[in-house]
Amino acid sequence: MCGIVGYIGDKKAINILLNGLSALEYRGYDSAGISIICNNAIETVKTKGKIIDLASLIIDKHTDLNGKTGIGHTRWATHGAPNTINAHPHFTKRVSVVHNGIIENYRELEELLNKKGITRKTGTDTEIIALLLDYYLKNSTPKEAFITTIKLLRGSFAIAALFKDTNTLMLAKNESPLVIGVGENENFIASDISALIQYTQQFIFLEDGDLAFIEKGKVEIEDSSLNPVKREIKTIHWSAESAKKGGYKHFMLKEIAEEAQAVRNTIQSRIDEKGNIFLQEEINLDEDLLKTLDSVTVVACGTSYYAGLCAKQILEKFTGVAVKVEIASEFRYSYPVFSKNNLFIAISQSGETADTKESLRFAQNSGLTTLSIVNVKESAIARMADSCIYTLAGPEISVASTKAFVSQLAVLYMLAFYIGKLKGKDVTKETKTLLSVPNIMQTVFEKTDELVKHIAKSYHSYKNFLYLGRGLMYPIALEGALKLKEISYIHAEGYPAGEMKHGPIALIEENTPSVVISPDFEPFYSKTMSNMEEIKARNGRIVMLSDKKSDIADSFIELEKIDYNFTPFVYVIPLQLFAYYIALYLGHDIDQPRNLAKSVTVE
Ligand code: F6R
Repeated sequence: MCGIVGYIGDKKAINILLNGLSALEYRGYDSAGISIICNNAIETVKTKGKIIDLASLIIDKHTDLNGKTGIGHTRWATHGAPNTINAHPHFTKRVSVVHNGIIENYRELEELLNKKGITRKTGTDTEIIALLLDYYLKNSTPKEAFITTIKLLRGSFAIAALFKDTNTLMLAKNESPLVIGVGENENFIASDISALIQYTQQFIFLEDGDLAFIEKGKVEIEDSSLNPVKREIKTIHWSAESAKKGGYKHFMLKEIAEEAQAVRNTIQSRIDEKGNIFLQEEINLDEDLLKTLDSVTVVACGTSYYAGLCAKQILEKFTGVAVKVEIASEFRYSYPVFSKNNLFIAISQSGETADTKESLRFAQNSGLTTLSIVNVKESAIARMADSCIYTLAGPEISVASTKAFVSQLAVLYMLAFYIGKLKGKDVTKETKTLLSVPNIMQTVFEKTDELVKHIAKSYHSYKNFLYLGRGLMYPIALEGALKLKEISYIHAEGYPAGEMKHGPIALIEENTPSVVISPDFEPFYSKTMSNMEEIKARNGRIVMLSDKKSDIADSFIELEKIDYNFTPFVYVIPLQLFAYYIALYLGHDIDQPRNLAKSVTVE
């Protein structure tokens, strides 16, 4: 939620800031702004709307922004409406600030400022930071003012401040991500590396409590006790191309097209053709714990939660261990009972989701052994857990998650087979089958893309959908419905097909189509056919996904025959495409749907 960029060096800052903000736009896109030091003054331009609106404003009215030091921000509003005045940066003549997170004690701090006759003009908590800095600058150096101000703040924040009178960018991090991109005689800052990979592969990931003072050839970091610390410079080889659209109309379609490769990348160095699984080094947990494991708790949000629901069935089947899957925002406020040998798994694409992160903290405080499954390198959840297995999906830019989902499944399946093996089960056949999954996924994408586009055309004007599936297809139905909701704004509900008769059947009529997901496996197939008859008897239209056609369906998407255990990898693809094309026909902003942001760092 909210993206921050910054630059200090010998190049014109404006282009670097705008490029970086475009790459971070998935984090929030209701308003944006930049501040640059030009001729010894801080010049700020901000606007409601997207980066493209900011860029047009700059081209029209601010062509003289030639400075080489600057900060920028793209916002997802929390405090204060999404308008120009509330857009960041927040500034005075002496200082300008961008912030991602929430200052919990901003009202208390506001009172302190009010007593000194200083008042807020915007609806944001961030303005308080700028006002405090400005106040302390009257009697102290910029560094002293920065430290004094940061020490007053409570809450989550990644902050970058620019000062008129010093050529140093000052940063503070607590709970929200902030990374420094290290260049030659230039340095960059951003909320995540996708904004910087076109400039550098060298990154310093700040830790909670860190303050950083950045000049063009120097980075100094202090920890929360103000002791100088060295943070490792890490090299990350994400290619700049991977964060571009590469000829696709939207990131979402590109990312669906990349799913087979994302799964391949995730599994290929971790399993081999003989069915060996090489996870021990990454998992780095006591093998005895895994051998004697008696329960697993999986916690996640949204799409990642649905990956957990699929994996529950696979983990239980191949390890014999009981698995609970919980929505993170509920889990952290519940009273869970853990068995002695529990493994806690947090799943998150971004590695930043506040509810998942806090659930992980809760698990750690409860003394559990924790493992995270994360896509974004060095993100908070990746670093907090006892161990982390990365999904190797590459950057996922579209707000709706697609390739991260199948990559999460891939990790969870490998984990199930790995633990199963430690517990003496023979999982060789399944491990080898997993290796063949990416090729099947590729075929499915290529074969269904046009067909789904065609079918979506005749369904895009409905206002309600039901998605039905049994067994492994139930979580896939939930995921299909979520995709449709978030990018097409059409109401859609996922349900276990067998549960339909206990309520949702009341919704069925000619204007409520059902998407029925039913690979040809018994006992599910025949039971689902009965459900389809029930829908037809009530004039409901049916889109069916299966490897065996039923004449009852109005539209049929034929899929490859695949081992039942692996059907989630395949059946989710046409559902993602269905949501994509419906949103396309409706003319929506697919990569940046309304009200959403990719990393949900608020509760
Ligand atoms: C759906 C979607 C969200 C995320 C959820 C969790 O397409 O993107 O539901 O899955 O916000 O995000 P992560 O996985 O980053 O923790």
